[in-house]
Amino acid sequence: MSNAPQAASQTLAPATPFYKPQGNEVELFQHAFKHQLPMLIKGPTGCGKTRFINYMAAQLGRPVYTVACHDDLTAADLVGRHLIGENGTYWSDGPLTRAVREGAICYLDEVVEARKDTTVVLHPLTDDRRILPIERTGEILHAPPEFMLVVSYNPGYQNLLKGMKPSTRQRFVAARFDFPSSDLEQEVIIGETGIDTATAKRLVNLANSLRALKDHDLEEAASTRLLVYTATLILGGYDPVEACRAAMVEPLTDDDETTAALMEIVQIAFGK
Ligand SMILES: Nc1ncnc2c1ncn2[C@@H]1O[C@H](COP(=O)(O)OP(=O)(O)O)[C@@H](O)[C@H]1O
Ligand SMILES: [Mg+2]
Repeated sequence: MSNAPQAASQTLAPATPFYKPQGNEVELFQHAFKHQLPMLIKGPTGCGKTRFINYMAAQLGRPVYTVACHDDLTAADLVGRHLIGENGTYWSDGPLTRAVREGAICYLDEVVEARKDTTVVLHPLTDDRRILPIERTGEILHAPPEFMLVVSYNPGYQNLLKGMKPSTRQRFVAARFDFPSSDLEQEVIIGETGIDTATAKRLVNLANSLRALKDHDLEEAASTRLLVYTATLILGGYDPVEACRAAMVEPLTDDDETTAALMEIVQIAFGK
């Protein structure tokens, strides 16, 4: 029993967000939804995974329950727990249970972070049984056709201890995301911020130069999200070089030398 708040956010009947498809992911998601197959999406931070799921949910007219997984997340956080109220204890559904009851999309972001006991509740939901047994109440929920489980993770963060078990992975159809091609990424930045084409192009070229350094000095590459932030600052009148520092360099490294090296590349791209 616990009063811990549940780490989930729900969007009801969302308005369709702006999304530029990278490939055939929209079609794949539609098929997976139609045939009641769970879906796994892998890709680096800030490449559009969450946006894609919200877009698909809006297209399909389903609410989304998003859970940001972390290393303390247990099966009870997903399924529910007894809480203490004024009139004693009562049962409170977790986000997964709510999604099953309502025929919604349940999205587990960074699923590899979750505790291993969560697989116990995910397995019967991800095979042809499509059931959610709630041990604490004795209830067994049958997922309606509109229920869909979507999980995502960043393969770059994987380590031997944390990877997803093959027996779990093999229950999903999977799609691989990456940063969009230059032309597409340019369109994303323009679509998100309204920045001019020339600046968008320079930003994407800069990001590609920084990404080329990724394996040398940086754990993570500059993401599309950071490009959108940079464009937002520039559009608001902030100095472009300083915008790149604040949104594309400092978020990626704490190391002084690496910062200086990255800022040199920024100067070449945006300096006067
Ligand atoms: N294909 C895309 N279409 C529209 N916006 C995108 C796309 N890819 C990335 N973005 C932008 O990048 C930001 C980060 O994407 P997000 O979906 O949150 O990344 P992830 O979940 O993969 O970490 C979004 O808020 C959006 O501004
Ligand atoms: Mg995300």
